[in-house]
Amino acid sequence: MSGGARLVGTVDVVGAKNSVLKLMAAALLAEGTTTITNCPEILDVPLMADVLRSLGCTVDVDGDTVTIDVPAEPGAQADYKSVSKLRASVCVLGPLVARCRRAVVPLPGGDAIGSRPLDMHQAGLRKLGATTEIEHGRVVATAETLRGAQIWLDFPSVGATENILMAAVLAEGTTVIDNAAREPEIVDLCLMLSQMGAKIDGVGTSTLTVHGVTGLAPTTHRVIGDRIVGATWAFAAAMTRGQVTVRGVDPHHIDLVLDKLRSAGARTDIEAGGFTLTMDGRPRAVDFVTLPYPGFATDLQPMAIAVSAVADGTSMITENVFESRFRFVDEMVRLGADARTDGHHAVVRGVDRLSSAPVWASDIRAGAGLVLAALCADGVTEVWDVEHIDRGYPRFVENLRSLGAEISRVSVDPER
Ligand code: UD1
Repeated sequence: MSGGARLVGTVDVVGAKNSVLKLMAAALLAEGTTTITNCPEILDVPLMADVLRSLGCTVDVDGDTVTIDVPAEPGAQADYKSVSKLRASVCVLGPLVARCRRAVVPLPGGDAIGSRPLDMHQAGLRKLGATTEIEHGRVVATAETLRGAQIWLDFPSVGATENILMAAVLAEGTTVIDNAAREPEIVDLCLMLSQMGAKIDGVGTSTLTVHGVTGLAPTTHRVIGDRIVGATWAFAAAMTRGQVTVRGVDPHHIDLVLDKLRSAGARTDIEAGGFTLTMDGRPRAVDFVTLPYPGFATDLQPMAIAVSAVADGTSMITENVFESRFRFVDEMVRLGADARTDGHHAVVRGVDRLSSAPVWASDIRAGAGLVLAALCADGVTEVWDVEHIDRGYPRFVENLRSLGAEISRVSVDPER
């Protein structure tokens, strides 16, 4: 890809990756056919479909619609091959314990952004009366009866909140999850569970109160728009001094991001279901601190580094969620970024132009951040291993091209 173009135009954002996978897992909680619409066409959706098939479900993925037919007695053991390809598949743990009283889920393994333990998932399920152990690389959870309990999370973990919530909806009595994560994707999950018949109070707050019910019914649900993808386009517009209209995202889910970009000099026009971001000059440096929602999302930290790399002034970026998330900064440095990391801080001194280089995408968001940086680099940049980006950004290259970027995707002979 060649840098230099000003991105101008409109992009449509579809459903959130971090929501759809959990909604697909939630379907396990009810016998019958659940339909999920506005699903992103990303590889993780068919991978999650394979996980559900390995549990006895019939799953049809047709464009943006996923139909899941759940049997009366789903299997309790997720297939190793399917789970190992998809970390988010661990979210079948809660629904399986609730439905089958037993779950065997292979440990999903490490990740380029840092270690991702399951201790809070397990502690929460144990509070509900389950026994959990790690055996031969698998989490084995069993419970004769699940009983409501008071659970305090050490940290508002997204995955732990989801797993405990999906177990608690079918537990006897009342569960209170304190210090729960309150990401919009968790609200989306609560809405779907409520449509299925679950009784959840405090949706959208850090205290979720779940009154267990004896059974849930299948439903039809539309996935919320992907706020991380929407915000990525906002950063792309700001960095290229462009004007991009983003549709399909609730702009209030990225209030903080848009406010940061306004501090950097952008103008925003907010509408229902979208926004337009315009940047006329070089962005000014601003600081970013990642935190659980409603803080600045860790998934956008690479975009924060990218905009800081070309901003006027010096920015401090603090990463509080994943310990290894700065690994990709060395790739930014190859593109000419003046960036230094120390522990969970990065200091970035903005330069006027970056310069092209071959760089490697190590995960979804780092990959997207590198592409944004390459939009501001002189010359032709090659970004390798872009299949990571495909996992979070449907039609990324096509969308960039429609906004005016000079970018193409080439398949390369692995022997090269
Ligand atoms: C989800 C998102 C991911 C996002 C992250 C934080 C999905 C598929 N992924 O990941 O894109 O970056 O939320 O917004 O939705 N932790 C523990 N013990 C646990 C669980 C978590 O120590 O039992 C730690 C993790 O190592 C991490 C922090 O808590 O440092 C946050 O993790 P968590 O919120 O659970 O993230 P995920 O659900 O894995």
